[in-house]
Amino acid sequence: MSEVIKRLNAEHRNIVKLLDLLDEELATFHAGDQPNFELMLDVMDYLTHYPDTFHHPKEDLVFNRLRQLDSGSHHVVDKQLKEHESLAREGIEFRNALRGMVNDEALMLRDTLEHLGTRYAESLRNHLYTEEAQVFPRALNVLRSDDWNEIDERISHRDDPLFGEAVAVEFQDLFEEILRLEKDISEQDATADTA
Ligand SMILES: [Fe+2]
Ligand SMILES: [Fe+2]
Repeated sequence: MSEVIKRLNAEHRNIVKLLDLLDEELATFHAGDQPNFELMLDVMDYLTHYPDTFHHPKEDLVFNRLRQLDSGSHHVVDKQLKEHESLAREGIEFRNALRGMVNDEALMLRDTLEHLGTRYAESLRNHLYTEEAQVFPRALNVLRSDDWNEIDERISHRDDPLFGEAVAVEFQDLFEEILRLEKDISEQDATADTA
């Protein structure tokens, strides 16, 4: 498999961990309890900075090449390319709403905040699913090694501040929560195996 697609898939797995954390907090919020707004803001700070400025632009290179080579891909590729823009917009909107809430700057209705968060998390999950189910397999079929090499050369490589070699100071708390979530999941799996 192309190294580019391997990296994109690995980045999806990381994004899903953040969506799982977000969903936990949104469920708490929906139940009428107090969610961890700081944690939600950390998730959104990461998602609006790293994937929106790094993951999606990488995909744009792959998708545009696929679009040139495969006219049957236009519909799904155009949908994904448009979603890169709408997700960035919706992500910033939700992040700013959370920031207002954390800093006590904005008086926001709970329903509005919950709606922004749910809409964003669902849109992003569906977006990842469509890429993995429809676009990546198609790109793997159609693009040739020259295409992948050219894309690889054009990709700007950047350290990932959360899932990379070193965790940035501002994401330490979020990193701890991801470890906690992974531990919970492996304990649940172990319990299910022995049941
Ligand atoms: Fe994407
Ligand atoms: Fe993606």
